[in-house]
Amino acid sequence: MLEVEREQRSVDGQSQSRDVAIRVTHDAQVQTEAPAERELVFELDTVSCYYGSFRAVKDVSLDIQRNAITAIIGPSGTGKSTLLRSFNRMNDLVPGAHVTGQIRYHGLDLYAPKVDPVEVRRRIGMVFQKPNPFPKSIYDNVAFGPRVGGVKGNTDDLVEQSLRRAALWDEVKDKLRTSGLALSGGQQQRLCIARAIAVSPDVILMDEPCSALDPVATLRIEELMIELKQNYTIVIVTHNMQQAARVSDETVFLTMDEDRAGYLVERGLTPQIFTNPQNRLTEDYVSGRFG
Ligand SMILES: Nc1ncnc2c1ncn2[C@@H]1O[C@H](COP(=O)(O)OP(=O)(O)O)[C@@H](O)[C@H]1O
Ligand SMILES: [Mg+2]
Repeated sequence: MLEVEREQRSVDGQSQSRDVAIRVTHDAQVQTEAPAERELVFELDTVSCYYGSFRAVKDVSLDIQRNAITAIIGPSGTGKSTLLRSFNRMNDLVPGAHVTGQIRYHGLDLYAPKVDPVEVRRRIGMVFQKPNPFPKSIYDNVAFGPRVGGVKGNTDDLVEQSLRRAALWDEVKDKLRTSGLALSGGQQQRLCIARAIAVSPDVILMDEPCSALDPVATLRIEELMIELKQNYTIVIVTHNMQQAARVSDETVFLTMDEDRAGYLVERGLTPQIFTNPQNRLTEDYVSGRFG
C-alpha cells in the first residue's frame, strides 16, 4: 500500500501543496524475510536484447523471486517490454531479435537448444496492455489453451476454477456462451488473466495490463494480482509508479543510455526504491522529476 502524503503549506501567503512522502507498508512476510532466503524463479546474468544490430536492453542482471510481484518501471523506450518478453522467449517470434547473456529459469538455461519455446510460453504466460480476448465465447476463451494442450473431455471445472481465480466468475457465470468481446475492458482483462491461468502456468508476465482500463477496473486488477501471487510469480511492467508502489514487492528501474539501450539502474524491495533509492536517477524518476 502506498500513500502519497500531501503537504499543505503557505508560502508568501499562497497555499501550496506538494507530495512530501511516499509511505509504503508491506505485508509482514515480505518485510521480515530476507530476499536471499526466498526461492528464485529467474536469474538474469548480463542479459542484452537485440533487434538486429540495435541493442534495446544491455547487461541486465537480476533475480526474480517466487510468489512475489516484481515491477519493472522506467521511461518509455527503455526496453521494459523487450526485457519482459525475454522471460518467455516471445522475442524469438520477432525476426532478427536475439538475446545474449543468460536467463536461468528454475536454474535451467531458458535459451538452451533443447528447450521448447512453446512449453516455455505455457509455463510462463503473458497478459498484454490491451485486453485481447479471442472472438469466441467466454467459455471458449478459457478452454482454448487447455484444449490446444491436449486436455480432453469436460473442461467445465477448469473453466470455472480459472474464472474464479481471475475474480470474474460471479460476473459471467450466467453468460458463459456470450462473446468475450461483449465484456467491459476490465472484465476482458480478467478474462485474459483467466485464459492465462487455465493452462496452469508458473509465472504470469503482465505488460502494462491496466493502461487501457479505468481507475476502478485498475484497482480490481491490482487486488487480483495480490491474490494471485500466492500461487504464481508475477512480473509486471508499468509506467504507473503508484501502481508499482501499491502492488509490487520488488521494483526494477530501467533507464536509457546515450546509445538508446535500456539498462538497469537500481533494483530492490519496493519500499526501499520508493522511499530511499540509492541512485540519483532512480530518485529523480520516482519523485516525478524525470520521465
Ligand atoms: N519489434 C521490434 N523491432 C525493432 N525494434 C523494436 C521492437 N520492439 C521494440 N523495439 C525498440 O526497442 C526499444 C525498447 O522498446 P520497448 O521494449 O518497447 O520499450 P518500453 O516497453 O520500455 O517502452 C525501443 O527503441 C523500440 O523502438
Ligand atoms: Mg512497453
